[in-house]
Amino acid sequence: MEESAATQARVECVESRVVLEARQVSKCYELDEIEVHALREVDLEVCEGQMLAVMGPSGSGKSTLMHMIGLLDRPTTGNVVVEGVDVSRMSPNELAAVRNKRIGFVFQSFNLLPRTSAQANVELPLIYAGVSLLKRASMARASLERVGLGDRLGHYSSQLSGGQQQRVAIARALVTAPSIVLADEPTGNLDSRSGIEVMSILQDLNRQGITIVIVTHDDGVARHAERVVHMLDGRIVHDELVENRTLAEDRMRELDAEEEAAQ
Ligand SMILES: Nc1ncnc2c1ncn2[C@@H]1O[C@H](COP(=O)(O)OP(=O)(O)OP(=O)(O)O)[C@@H](O)[C@H]1O
Ligand SMILES: [Mg+2]
Repeated sequence: MEESAATQARVECVESRVVLEARQVSKCYELDEIEVHALREVDLEVCEGQMLAVMGPSGSGKSTLMHMIGLLDRPTTGNVVVEGVDVSRMSPNELAAVRNKRIGFVFQSFNLLPRTSAQANVELPLIYAGVSLLKRASMARASLERVGLGDRLGHYSSQLSGGQQQRVAIARALVTAPSIVLADEPTGNLDSRSGIEVMSILQDLNRQGITIVIVTHDDGVARHAERVVHMLDGRIVHDELVENRTLAEDRMRELDAEEEAAQ
């Protein structure tokens, strides 16, 4: 059935509350006097504990949407509501406080400091949060253990594989105990095994109650989520629940079997 953007049925939060909400969010960038409408009156409700994937072609507004709901930037018009609180009128300091407390970010390019240990990278958000030295160290270690890197604490970013670097980035996002993790193409730079490992960690975190929004180009990656939102030209054009969601553990077993058979 063809559905226009205006009549698009939206997935609603039935059993849980709305944790993150975009209301009529538009974002217009002005570049050399040319206006780019990156988002056009987007309405989105992310349910608490949900794992949501955002798909869409390059330039459709996915990262812009993440920046808006992640409070990294403000909409041109419209409102963003985090855990029931409209953040539109908050000062930059108040916004940063909500962001640091509630939201963790994972990016395609890891964004780790080079020539800096995994532990120091993970401690960074805690320094900003004013956590004491001793407490920082133990929190960072616990976070790295959570992503299976308890044996790589002292390794520099450059001494880690891409998949391990992304896991450090996830540990860094988790160390402040956010209730929401936003991941923009977290598997985009990874080989398939590392990508599956990252999806496995994200699914694990989701099982532990963390709300996850993940941007991806890859339909196979999106099917790890329970819901997929499709964007086109700054609008959400489709919103669906995933049937037979992929479990990363199953894919890992399949990959192991394939590699064994190939030997
Ligand atoms: N800071 C900016 N200044 C001007 N235009 C921007 C800026 N950021 C994004 N845009 C424009 O807004 C539109 C949406 O960009 P966005 O980065 O959200 O797309 P995307 O869906 O994440 O694409 P990709 O899949 O390539 O990452 C694009 O046309 C882009 O050129
Ligand atoms: Mg993007």
